[in-house]
Amino acid sequence: MKNIVLIGFMGVGKGTIARAFCAKTGMYGVDTDDLIESLENRKIKTIFKENGEGHFRALEARTASWLAKNVKNTVISTGGGFFMVEDLNKIGTIVYLKSSFDGIIERIMSQPNAKHKLQKRPLFQEIDRAKALFEKRVPLYEKKADISIQVENKSIKEIVKGLEKSLKF
Ligand code: S3P
Repeated sequence: MKNIVLIGFMGVGKGTIARAFCAKTGMYGVDTDDLIESLENRKIKTIFKENGEGHFRALEARTASWLAKNVKNTVISTGGGFFMVEDLNKIGTIVYLKSSFDGIIERIMSQPNAKHKLQKRPLFQEIDRAKALFEKRVPLYEKKADISIQVENKSIKEIVKGLEKSLKF
């Protein structure tokens, strides 16, 4: 079986949905930001600060080729910009988790650790810039996706069910 690759904007819930999907199906899951943090032994925020976004994107490219070569039958949640790596489709079936920008803000703000969730994301420091990035990326996510799933105003349980149905589990 192929890997399932979850893509979508920062804060849409890729990690949360991946974990719930794993718990329900018994599949293993990995997260590209976690892999990069282990590889570098530094937080994403520190990598951006010390080496810049270009270096982080190079680490994402390296992670993508490692995943394509070494990982199968796994749910892979990704950082919001990971979809830009070359040959993303060689890693697995690409699932785009879709929401409006307002839906994402609402989701982040409703979490008890909202401040930390925003602080750890270097590209989510200014809301106007984050919104512009969102608008630029939406058509690109759509283009890369094998499957798109609307997640706004849905419970995690409903999203997992929809995902199982779309992936014919
Ligand atoms: C990024 C998203 C982040 C992280 C990095 C860059 C992006 O992941 O990879 O800060 O370019 O959208 P999340 O989508 O988990 O926030």
